[in-house]
Amino acid sequence: MNIRRVDFAGSGVSDYIEKVRLLNAGETKRYYIITYGCQMNVHDSEHLAGLLLQMGYISCDNKEDADFILFNTCCVRENAELRVYGNVGALRELKERHPGLKIAICGCMMQQQAVVESIKKRFEFVDIIFGSHNAQALPGLLYRALTENGRCMEAHDDEYSIMEGAPIKRDSSFSAWITVMYGCNNFCSYCIVPYVRGRERSRRSADILTEAKQLAGQGCKEITLLGQNVNSYGKDCGEISFAELLRRLNDIDGIERIGFMTSHPKDCSDELISAIADCKKVSRQLHLPVQSGSDRILKLMNRRYTHDDYLHLADKIKTAVPDIALSTDIIVGFPTETEEDFMQTVQLYNQVRFASAFMFAYSRRAGTPAADMKEQVPQEVKKDRLSRLIELQTRCTTEFHKRYIGNVYPVLAESVSKRSSRVISGRTHCGRMVSFEADSSVIGKIVNVKITQLKANTLYGVLVQP
Ligand code: SAH
Ligand code: SF4
Ligand code: F3S
Repeated sequence: MNIRRVDFAGSGVSDYIEKVRLLNAGETKRYYIITYGCQMNVHDSEHLAGLLLQMGYISCDNKEDADFILFNTCCVRENAELRVYGNVGALRELKERHPGLKIAICGCMMQQQAVVESIKKRFEFVDIIFGSHNAQALPGLLYRALTENGRCMEAHDDEYSIMEGAPIKRDSSFSAWITVMYGCNNFCSYCIVPYVRGRERSRRSADILTEAKQLAGQGCKEITLLGQNVNSYGKDCGEISFAELLRRLNDIDGIERIGFMTSHPKDCSDELISAIADCKKVSRQLHLPVQSGSDRILKLMNRRYTHDDYLHLADKIKTAVPDIALSTDIIVGFPTETEEDFMQTVQLYNQVRFASAFMFAYSRRAGTPAADMKEQVPQEVKKDRLSRLIELQTRCTTEFHKRYIGNVYPVLAESVSKRSSRVISGRTHCGRMVSFEADSSVIGKIVNVKITQLKANTLYGVLVQP
């Protein structure tokens, strides 16, 4: 596959940024971004915020104050889409009261032409639409929306390109996302992502390492590498392997923690497991979605491993990295799933005892093979299986968390609790959330916390001296 690599500085986007700046000159304009979906979307929104900042916009805390509202959408499950429709619809009145307000919708939902048509028909007041491959189209579209009133500006580009050097406004100064690859080639039969995010394409390792070094220079302590299937990093363009990338990142001074998501079990190689074991900065939480414990369902899902393959892999990882916290994603109620299939998922759960899990009821996505399978599972059955699994996971998490009580762990202090300014939340190296008393000066630092109790699956601790 031919990937077009574009440098932001030479892309012509800056011309539109300058034009919008001039248009807004003298006036403070405010933006409000609502992001749905996965971390890739959260990170894309950081880039969109970076562009808006350069155009002279500042962020605001509520929609009523905004001159520009942007929805960055997700279509992985139906309820994510329904929320977008509901929330965009609710803006009709605001737009009537504030005609200068510009409204944009971007992201994965906008990669589907039928959805774009329906949005345009239902919400004629939307000014701008662009897809996930087109963040850099925002300045041009905004310029046109501000100067040619009255119709919806659109940009869709299915060409595969990777842009380097684009502006960014990161949400955190000590913990940063770094994209290592875009797209997905796996085509799991239930999943819309490969259709909306395109084929796998990796960034150059040199660009990733430069970004990580720059972040370290700015005081960033933690990086999280992003990709739909990070362990196939590099395969599309003859780059170094993901394991080697981890080793090189591990050598960067100043970076103290390295996380990554998501890994596909079929690509979780011995080389990667050794790299995790050797690289002490690499997170001791490994997210390894299993999706189902039934071989028949796994085959229909096109996951390319079996129940036993997964168990074997989980054992290998736990042996090589004993302090690992394994987490997973599960779908219940995939078409044709019987009670027996579901019980195999429960069995796998009891065998692996995940530290945590995201659990979903199967959601039919038009255009994917599973959507056309006969025998869809009734909603009540899906709901019942989901609640049984959630109950099981709650017990597993409690059991897993108990082992931490009484021990001291380095915790990266992340935020001040909403309930009390003296309570701080942070995460251990294996991704467990811990609350402890301290003042806000610890935010962004790694401090030692002794875990003292577990309440409703939240760990509590006290600050101890190093
Ligand atoms: N690339 C990642 C995650 C992609 S989407 C991976 O392969 O693990 C995140 C999770 O959403 C998936 O792991 C899956 O559990 C869930 N998901 C995807 N499509 C779904 C659908 N149609 N219905 C319900 N859950 C779905
Ligand atoms: Fe979807 Fe499967 Fe790709 Fe993950 S690996 S994004 S679940 S197709
Ligand atoms: Fe959703 Fe797109 Fe992520 S569909 S899960 S926002 S890649």
